[in-house]
Amino acid sequence: MNLTLRVWRQPHPTAKGKMVTYKVSDVSPDMSFLEMLDVLNEQLILSGDDPVAFDHDCREGICGSCGLMINGYAHGPEQTTTCQLHMRSFKDGDEIDIEPWRSGGFPLIKDLVVDRSAFDRIIASGGFISAPTGTAPEAHATPVPKKDSDAAFDAATCIGCGACVAACPNGSAMLFTAAKVSHLGLLPQGQPERDARVIKMVAQQDAEDFGGCSNIGECSAVCPKGISMETISRLNHDLLGALRANAVPAS
Ligand code: SF4
Ligand code: FES
Repeated sequence: MNLTLRVWRQPHPTAKGKMVTYKVSDVSPDMSFLEMLDVLNEQLILSGDDPVAFDHDCREGICGSCGLMINGYAHGPEQTTTCQLHMRSFKDGDEIDIEPWRSGGFPLIKDLVVDRSAFDRIIASGGFISAPTGTAPEAHATPVPKKDSDAAFDAATCIGCGACVAACPNGSAMLFTAAKVSHLGLLPQGQPERDARVIKMVAQQDAEDFGGCSNIGECSAVCPKGISMETISRLNHDLLGALRANAVPAS
């Protein structure tokens, strides 16, 4: 396949960015999208140019670092990660626009790389349980209904990629926060800190430069792990309950 790429180039956060056009040829349909970018970068390095900076690590859909807007869609035309997107989803002669996640909550570092540490701060504010160290408890000592363990596991599959934020017209991080709140809040081990967790994590999300959720649903439609809108309902339910339970009575 021969392709024309229009790639966002921006050498540093305060520089003026622009789309730059490149041609790549002999791209195999079996290459991943990131391998196609490797081909472009080899070309750029051989011609003495600065390679395109893009984020990646596992290249198998589990680390969440490879977020790109491809032709205006988070992670491109398939509901998957960019590393799991293959060039057979495109055709010979295609023109492909490649941009970074665009959100106030994810400031740009260089080219296609953004800073997603706001997600780390949301997790650090409450996305954990406190447990005494020592001998592990017997696994069957804490029964968990199958329905709850399945729902908790589904929420726990969130890889923190940020596609939900990038796709949302409001730039909201609600689906991510809801997944992290849910996967602990559904389990017995998550109960002692359940109220404090949801209050603190939503407060931290609001303190970052993300927008509010207005139930549009683009987040769930692009989520590579299929995190559902029901997760957001669960967060709202937990948050209201926690605020009521912890409300200071009017004097
Ligand atoms: S909810 Fe989905 S889209 Fe959002 S960070 Fe998690 S895995 Fe990515
Ligand atoms: S590189 Fe890890 S999910 Fe794509």
